[in-house]
Amino acid sequence: MPTQGSNTLSEIDVAGQTLKIYELGDVCDSLTGRAFTGSWIWDSALLLSRWLATSQFDLRDKSVIELGAGAGLPGLTAALLGASRVVLTDIASLLPGLVKNVEANELEDRVEVRELVWGSEESLSRIGELRRFDVVLLSDVFFDLEEVAALGRTLKKVSGNKTWVLAASEVRCLTGECLNELVSQGFKVVEVPIQEDGGDGGRDIFAVYNIIPPDEGECQKNMSGS
Ligand SMILES: C[S@@+](CC[C@H](N)C(=O)[O-])C[C@H]1O[C@@H](n2cnc3c(N)ncnc32)[C@H](O)[C@@H]1O
Repeated sequence: MPTQGSNTLSEIDVAGQTLKIYELGDVCDSLTGRAFTGSWIWDSALLLSRWLATSQFDLRDKSVIELGAGAGLPGLTAALLGASRVVLTDIASLLPGLVKNVEANELEDRVEVRELVWGSEESLSRIGELRRFDVVLLSDVFFDLEEVAALGRTLKKVSGNKTWVLAASEVRCLTGECLNELVSQGFKVVEVPIQEDGGDGGRDIFAVYNIIPPDEGECQKNMSGS
């Protein structure tokens, strides 16, 4: 995590290539004076990036949207792995940092940055082509029940019949309740097998979930073989 006021550059290996990600110490919430949580890379983002790079999941020519992208690592990973279009989204204050990370990796031809506040019809209307994304990425976004209720509403708008929704999360007290909120909205949640514990020797537990949108119930996906 960067100290307040400083920006830190991390170089992250993705399938033999290097992604440059700046974590920001200079963008603070004017109400609390604290850095936004999306200013730095969370362990779930590292996990999801590694999972995308090492699983059989094929991102080539896919359109991808990341919600609550923060510094944008999973979405930028998807672009490196061949996604044809990636939209990184978050609240307005974090967008300049996301743009900086897109530019640092010279991915402007494939990666866009847009404001998308969960549950907000106004910001959704500015994304365009809703329900056309092949893949939705989520990393460490299950921390608040009200926010997750709004996230679920947005998720329905950006997911179509064949969309894969992949979410990485540290498993905390509230994680189960957040997943139950999505289930109450009609989503199915399937845990995806992973090989690792988050890199801290097993003190924290991490998981990757396939979140299946409501209208896809009958063709439930099973990722255990991938
Ligand atoms: C714990 S951080 C995770 C950041 C990043 N995904 C990662 O894993 O490194 C949660 C992210 O969700 C975003 N977020 C929280 N509430 C949101 C909302 N209502 N609308 C859009 N983004 C939101 C935050 O701005 C932040 O980037």
